[in-house]
Amino acid sequence: MKVSVILGTRPEIIKLSPVILELERSGLEYFILHSGQHYSYSMDRVFFEQLGLPEARYNLDVNSGSHGLQTGRMLIGIEKILKEESSDVVIVQGDTNTTLAGALSAAKLRIPIGHVEAGLRSYDRSMPEEINRRLVDHCSDVLFAPTEKARQILLGEGIPNDWIYVTGNTIVDALYRNLRLAESRRGLMDELEVEERRYLLVTVHRQENVDNKERFSKILKGLTSVHERLGYPIIYPVHPRAAKRMREFNLKPEGLTLINPLDYLDFLLLEKNARLILTDSGGVQEEACILQVPCVTLRYNTERPETLEVKSNILAGVDPESIAEKAEMMLKRKCNWPNPFGDGKAGKRIVKILIERFG
Ligand code: UD1
Ligand code: UDP
Repeated sequence: MKVSVILGTRPEIIKLSPVILELERSGLEYFILHSGQHYSYSMDRVFFEQLGLPEARYNLDVNSGSHGLQTGRMLIGIEKILKEESSDVVIVQGDTNTTLAGALSAAKLRIPIGHVEAGLRSYDRSMPEEINRRLVDHCSDVLFAPTEKARQILLGEGIPNDWIYVTGNTIVDALYRNLRLAESRRGLMDELEVEERRYLLVTVHRQENVDNKERFSKILKGLTSVHERLGYPIIYPVHPRAAKRMREFNLKPEGLTLINPLDYLDFLLLEKNARLILTDSGGVQEEACILQVPCVTLRYNTERPETLEVKSNILAGVDPESIAEKAEMMLKRKCNWPNPFGDGKAGKRIVKILIERFG
């Protein structure tokens, strides 16, 4: 069996790391194809280094661009490589343009596709990610659903039961593997002059939030108001898309400490010790839930309903008053919810299933 692992962005590198390390451990034949969608050191290489991942055999260097341009360049490059490498199965993760291009290239070449983190739905088709995840689920052959809920969604859309496997989310594996190491690195908290449970952590990067000046301003106003009402320092590692828009719209948020995107270990450390997390990231909603840190989601919907069910998370949207109210509310939340995302063995399960199906 030969496996092609296709990835291209920060969350894909992190969430595929447990699968890649398990492929490596099992001595299976595989290679990594990097689309180059993310390319800055702090969005890409740093994760390969920290997570101990082998080099990608290919990097398409597609870089940034409009959705069509970026995805089109990937399709051309991925097809060429998949034809040369003749693999038995292609693995993609999540809902990015890289995920779509990887799955579509494989589908056209009739190579079976395994989709890691299948069955998530926000039911909001204005999000590019919702289009990507739906299309990828519907051209995949093996669907690795993180939860029973995701499996039910796939069944409801007509995907055959024996194509779906509930494995848990690989983010739990990555987090369990790295948390202790992260906790041993206190340097950043000293540098930022923050203490355990006495600061808030923010990430905002979604296209629909930051590419719209009014919407991004409202979110930042809401965060300033959270700082004023609660008095906690707020740390915001700024994603490059958000940084670009902040400059372009000339937004200068008050009461927030803006820093560059963090490496995985430093970010885990800040998440673990935060009093509260405010985010529009998918992965960060999950990590907050796993780490028993309350979360306020700066969106009107989420494809992670499990976090709402266990009440680790609440939707605030982008209205400043609602953000401040929901933050106050979540500060009172007792942190004793169950982790709905699995036991940290998703990577092992996924590789075992690949061997059963394609070995
Ligand atoms: C992408 C994914 C999103 C995911 C996010 C993870 C799609 C449609 N979106 O969004 O689902 O949540 O990655 O972080 O695939 N940039 C850099 N350096 C980089 C990468 C990007 O400076 O290494 C800047 C560029 O200005 C670029 C912008 O960020 O135009 C957006 O990058 P892009 O990959 O298009 O989308 P993301 O917002 O990162
Ligand atoms: N992350 C990180 N450094 C940061 C912000 C996030 O390492 O400064 C990690 C975080 O731990 C999580 C992942 O990046 O595992 C989430 O990625 P992102 O928010 O970019 O994408 P999404 O999950 O929304 O697709």
